[in-house]
Amino acid sequence: MLLSNRISKINPSLTLAITAKANKLKAEGVNVIGFGAGEPDFDTPINIKEAAKKAIDKGFTKYTPTSGIKELKEAICAKLKTDNNLEYTHEEIIVSCGAKHSIFNTIVSLCDEGDEVILPSPYWVSYPEIVAVAGAKAVIIKTEEKENFKITPEELENTINSRTKLLVLNSPSNPTGMVYSENELKELSRVILKAGIYCLSDEIYEKVIYDEPHVSIASLDSEMKKKTIVVNGVSKAYSMTGWRIGYCAGPKEIIQAMSNLQDHSTSNPASIAQAASVEALTGAQSDLTKMVAEFKKRRDFMVNRVNSISGLHTLRPQGAFYCWINISSVLNKSINGKRMRNSFELTDAFLQFANVAVVPGGVFGDDNYIRISYATSMENIIEGLNRIERFIAKLV
Ligand SMILES: Cc1ncc(COP(=O)(O)O)c(C=O)c1O
Repeated sequence: MLLSNRISKINPSLTLAITAKANKLKAEGVNVIGFGAGEPDFDTPINIKEAAKKAIDKGFTKYTPTSGIKELKEAICAKLKTDNNLEYTHEEIIVSCGAKHSIFNTIVSLCDEGDEVILPSPYWVSYPEIVAVAGAKAVIIKTEEKENFKITPEELENTINSRTKLLVLNSPSNPTGMVYSENELKELSRVILKAGIYCLSDEIYEKVIYDEPHVSIASLDSEMKKKTIVVNGVSKAYSMTGWRIGYCAGPKEIIQAMSNLQDHSTSNPASIAQAASVEALTGAQSDLTKMVAEFKKRRDFMVNRVNSISGLHTLRPQGAFYCWINISSVLNKSINGKRMRNSFELTDAFLQFANVAVVPGGVFGDDNYIRISYATSMENIIEGLNRIERFIAKLV
């Protein structure tokens, strides 16, 4: 066997495969409406771009300390204090090449072969793959629509065993948009502390939130803080997905281990992107406010429109920029003699017959759903949902 066992277990990104298919159709001149976007459709704010240009002009283009520059760590510590009431020292912070890298560093630093990592499903696509790279085992807790796609303390308690190392919690969630309330987090934290496991709290969508305030599970009490690795970054809040800056806050010895790993893999994240991120966190926040207001309008429209289409329904997402749509009553119907037995076949048919690109729920661990993103113009949302409605009306 050419490849290592560990790497052979990793699946290619199915979301990227769907994007490739949609792009191929677009290149052939087909007018495809893309609902696949996992990033804001807004430009990076001008003050952030200016900060990056200044950094280049000043010659700030060399290696930096592996775990991030002092100014950025200061900005992150101030942000965590102001927004989350969390106090960290610089030794408890590491800046990495995107939140995905932060998650990778956390899981690889904490997990050995045979350790179990609990993932509530639907989950973000990369979690199980990163767990596989670490040689650990992903243990899925399937959440239900009637529970707003959130795990209960009982489910968590019943899933934990002596091999459990970590729970991965993502609030606001990709793909469901659900947000855990402070009370729900308190109940989960009791179970986490009793079992002595760690919690990776992926808070990358913290700022893209519409109804309830965001609460970090680490902020509940000092014991929970010791057991939590908070992951966040600038990608989603500041439309900086290409700049690749994420960060972790957590216990010093875990952060130090991640820094050692980063020393011998990526070294520091790009110096220029770090300088830009200082401006993102400390500069004007008005672009963020405008973006969230626009997402909220689109969310409200999309939720009402989806729920008006016979055969589809969705809960109202409270954060992120996705609608998680139940397609169970459309599955197993046919178009042009072709039966769609799962979310992947339905997604293919959407693209082929309605020229709409969506993401099949199967990639997030639940085949009765699709994910559509509202990080696209209102015009596209209206036209794309009209196409979906016409397509569904033709099914037999
Ligand atoms: C839930 C979740 N976590 C982490 C990430 C990774 O973010 P970044 O682009 O900063 O690596 C994403 C990106 O889609 C995400 O949806």
